[in-house]
Amino acid sequence: MNNVKLDITDEHIGILTIDRPDSYNALSNSLLNEINDSIEKIEGNDNLRVLIVTGSGKAFCAGADLKERKNMNEQQVLAAVTYIKETINKLESLRIPTIAAINGAAFGGGLELALACDIRLASHQAKMGLTETSLGIIPGAGGTQRLSRLIGIGKSKYLIYTAKRLTSFEALEYGILEKVVDAEELNDVTLEIARTIAQNGPIAVQQAKKAIQQGFNIDLPKALEIEMACYKQTIPTEDRYEGIRAFQEKRKPIYKGK
Ligand code: COA
Repeated sequence: MNNVKLDITDEHIGILTIDRPDSYNALSNSLLNEINDSIEKIEGNDNLRVLIVTGSGKAFCAGADLKERKNMNEQQVLAAVTYIKETINKLESLRIPTIAAINGAAFGGGLELALACDIRLASHQAKMGLTETSLGIIPGAGGTQRLSRLIGIGKSKYLIYTAKRLTSFEALEYGILEKVVDAEELNDVTLEIARTIAQNGPIAVQQAKKAIQQGFNIDLPKALEIEMACYKQTIPTEDRYEGIRAFQEKRKPIYKGK
């Protein structure tokens, strides 16, 4: 056990590391249990402002555990896919922003996990793809939906029908990644982005996430109502007053998330 590490750095930044390197961090049932436990801890920690998701060893996550899958009957397969989907949904539903630091291979459910994060960075050596059709299945943890929302329907169909494995530079060109960096810089660059986010008003950042998530892909008038409802949440906060004061006093604001 203990295939997931949850560390906290700089007081406000959580780092969830999938630590099952011998199996390329493949999502077995017991690993999913541990990821769920960690997500619950993150949800319950009001001090956290950003979460980094990464993998240890050569891979970010090689997707479903195909060795475990081999011994499952059809009902068990459905239950296993549903569990991966629910876990990934839970990660996406976190109030705080999430950054996937893709340190190596991210295939199938591994890429679906990254697609549920808000921001994706990868090392030069990382490779990724929704490879499911090459295994006679389809992406079942949100891949058909999140990839097409992220990069468009034509490119998603091309990538999913061909089960194409992309280099990180190709993934950057497709718009799957925000940034590609040298492997040895991935942690530092990711932390720098996390620190920048953590310096901003935590309630504001969370409401921005909510507005973008809930408003995306619905009609604009309704989406703008959602944006205004989220804005309203920031108006009475101490942090908003602090932001204005700090601007006038020409200093950096100190936000408390209140
Ligand atoms: N489930 C279970 N075990 C996995 C796995 C998976 N998804 N992916 C890799 N592994 C295991 C391999 O079986 C191997 O274990 P072994 O040493 O006991 O044989 C070990 O991880 C290393 O994999 P290997 O293929 O030897 O390394 P590689 O560097 O040549 O390739 C990958 C790594 C990830 C590119 C390759 O293993 C791969 O393509 N995996 C499947 C990814 C995939 O399509 N996932 C979608 C699932 S729906």
